Amino acid sequence: MTSSELREKFLKFFEERGHKIVPSSSLLPEDTSVLLTTAGMQQFKSYYLEEESPYGQNIVSSQKCFRTSDIEEVGDEKHLTFFEMLGNFSFGGYFKKEAIEIAKEFLDSIKIEIDYVTVFAGDENTPKDEKSAEVWRGLGFTEEKGNLRFCNKEENFWGPTGQEGPCGPTTEIYVKGIEIWNIVFNEYYCKDNKLKKLKKPGIDTGMGLERLAIISQDKETIFETDLFLSIIEKIEDLSSNKYEDHKREFRIIADHIRGSVFLIADGVRPDNVEQGYILRRLLRRAIRLARVLELPSNFLILLGKIVISEYKGAYPEMNHDILAVMGEEREKFELTLENGLREFEKLEIIDGKEAFKLYASYGFPLELTKELALEKGIEINEDDFDSEFKKHQEISRTAAAGKFKGGLADTKEETIKLHTAHHLLLAALQKILGTHVKQKGSNINSDRLRIDFVHPQKMTKEEIEAVEKIVNDKIEEGLKVIKREMSKEEAEKIGAEMEFGGKYDDTVSVYFIEDEKGNVFSKEFCGGPHVKNTNELSRGPSSGKKRRFRIKKEQSSSAGVRRIKAILE
Ligand code: SER
Repeated sequence: MTSSELREKFLKFFEERGHKIVPSSSLLPEDTSVLLTTAGMQQFKSYYLEEESPYGQNIVSSQKCFRTSDIEEVGDEKHLTFFEMLGNFSFGGYFKKEAIEIAKEFLDSIKIEIDYVTVFAGDENTPKDEKSAEVWRGLGFTEEKGNLRFCNKEENFWGPTGQEGPCGPTTEIYVKGIEIWNIVFNEYYCKDNKLKKLKKPGIDTGMGLERLAIISQDKETIFETDLFLSIIEKIEDLSSNKYEDHKREFRIIADHIRGSVFLIADGVRPDNVEQGYILRRLLRRAIRLARVLELPSNFLILLGKIVISEYKGAYPEMNHDILAVMGEEREKFELTLENGLREFEKLEIIDGKEAFKLYASYGFPLELTKELALEKGIEINEDDFDSEFKKHQEISRTAAAGKFKGGLADTKEETIKLHTAHHLLLAALQKILGTHVKQKGSNINSDRLRIDFVHPQKMTKEEIEAVEKIVNDKIEEGLKVIKREMSKEEAEKIGAEMEFGGKYDDTVSVYFIEDEKGNVFSKEFCGGPHVKNTNELSRGPSSGKKRRFRIKKEQSSSAGVRRIKAILE
């Protein structure tokens, strides 16, 4: 079945069963606590609460979604930025039994056989989902057969999107090892890390159209489905390279162009901040890789046109102005590339280190530098490039991604919160110990943050407590976290904190943590990511009491440098 048929069939199937078809909302959400629309239920959030749904109790939609958390992974077999989410929703109407049975019925109707399903195993705050298990057992799924599995909160609990909202246990359907359908039972409202029972429980389901297409079309990866085939084929047409030999580049170009078209259609324009930054990054990465594949300079337009024509039936906002936006951004970026080329020409002898510099400052892919060097009869030592790359990994990220991740292990929600806590901590340390405190290193993961800083002696118990208190007060006060772009010079002038010995680009981003009146508590050179408001730090991934910031350990790191490990608990 083609993807369009699957989309149509899904909408029709639920329409015939009393659901109103509601068009996808924009990728730019009304809820400003999230950057982009990441789930189908986002536009319906308030209907799970007091507000009455103007569409009636049951809804079905195919929602445009965009997730940036895995942007670096795009290029493999399964990660995408943009995707379509098919979903059925009920606000106080049907619940577990009907939602599960109807999902099974739909999959039967398109001849998709379920491998196994998962159900929420419960935890100290939320009970085990016996009801869903019972319904699945009625449909022939049992623990004994291994096709009914209980999983913990990490797997089988969803939401909320943004800072607060409906959430609840889920049951998830797996086919050929892929989770294709997530059925959420919105029983709770989560705010400040507390779960409150909703007056009218609701249903929110999400099934990725791309994943459904893999199964229905019996393909190995998303890129072999009809959703991507014509784009991939067009790239092959335009290039002398084959998909088989350059899968990563093909996939990134295909994903990024598709994602860009949808972002532009919803009004996003290339920029250095927020959604516009995401768009710019997608386009520039595609342009760089297009050079590797030797695509003609109008490739964006040619591929963009395919995306527009494939989707305009389902999404009327597709229009040809989108192509002009893409073209303009290409021209701008080509200029940067041109400057890089000029720089290249100036170099007498190009070695791995120099090649790396070109990459870091101009986004020059190594492949391009290598090729240019070869024309001059010089072979670049890739090991030198690699070791330089590793040494400057953070900086290269700054250049390539415009971001400075400051020692973040990943971009999980918890890690991001601890990253903001890290900024609060540094400012608090300076307040209590003095301005000689400078950051010497940092390492943050989803469990704890670690900071190394200049300070001659062990901190006293009183000092530790005073620092903790400041950080907790600042969390409580709900300060805004704002990113501002500026020249490095300007940032230095205003005294923005920078890592000791850190290297930065000419244009930097500075994160300010400040109150409504603009009283600044912290300002640091940083590429993010951060939370939007410090009060998010008091909310954990699971329900329960409000969290507090706590220093777990204060010890020596090296001469004149102390190390702190801290958590939110
Ligand atoms: N909101 C859930 C998800 O995004 C189900 O639609 O997975």
